[in-house]
Amino acid sequence: MEENQIITLPRIGEKAPEFQAVTTQGSINFPADYKGNWVILFSHPADFTPVCTSEFMTFATLEPKFEKANCKLVGLSVDGLYSHIAWLRTIKEKIQYKGMKDVEVNFPLIEDITMEVAKKYGMIQPGESNTKAVRAVFFIDPKGIIRAMIYYPLTTGRNMDEILRLIDALQTTDKHGVATPANWRPGDQVIVPPPKTVEAAAERAQMPGIECTDWYFAKRDLPK
Ligand code: BEZ
Repeated sequence: MEENQIITLPRIGEKAPEFQAVTTQGSINFPADYKGNWVILFSHPADFTPVCTSEFMTFATLEPKFEKANCKLVGLSVDGLYSHIAWLRTIKEKIQYKGMKDVEVNFPLIEDITMEVAKKYGMIQPGESNTKAVRAVFFIDPKGIIRAMIYYPLTTGRNMDEILRLIDALQTTDKHGVATPANWRPGDQVIVPPPKTVEAAAERAQMPGIECTDWYFAKRDLPK
């Protein structure tokens, strides 16, 4: 890829681009195979590299938390299948990090030597690298719609707490029709969307359970 070539990135609110791929857990048809589940589709720059290893160990250790949120993990790099298998075996047999050891990665890791998928998802960003995917994270909902994305450079490992928090925030928005403020955590108050008319603003100021600081700034608790 040329350094200044224009690349297209999938956008929030659009359907996740479709692809078929070979993974460490067999072939997948994406996103159709994940209908009804949330999915985190994420890329890493290369197998057998330390930051990526720390991320895989952490994702695999947190997988039960993602499962609890009805969310599947799917990894991708532009390495081949046998590299993936050998790297994941090394992680299980040899690597210890922050109290984690014997870590088995059971979620699928896509082989993408042709970069077909990585290019579809804007994971190859030539200013950063022509030959490796950046650390992209796509949040895809049960209908196959991209709801959020985060891109990190090669050198920075992801914050897994933020990834879990964002899944929680998106699900809270869907369930309760609310927004979530800065640094929101589960259990915090949520934002009631601003009213659309002057009458609605006046009515809302009187509603029990809503803390209305100004006509456009109202918060409430969620039911326990
Ligand atoms: C790493 O995972 O350690 C890494 C990969 C590519 C560039 C820099 C660091």
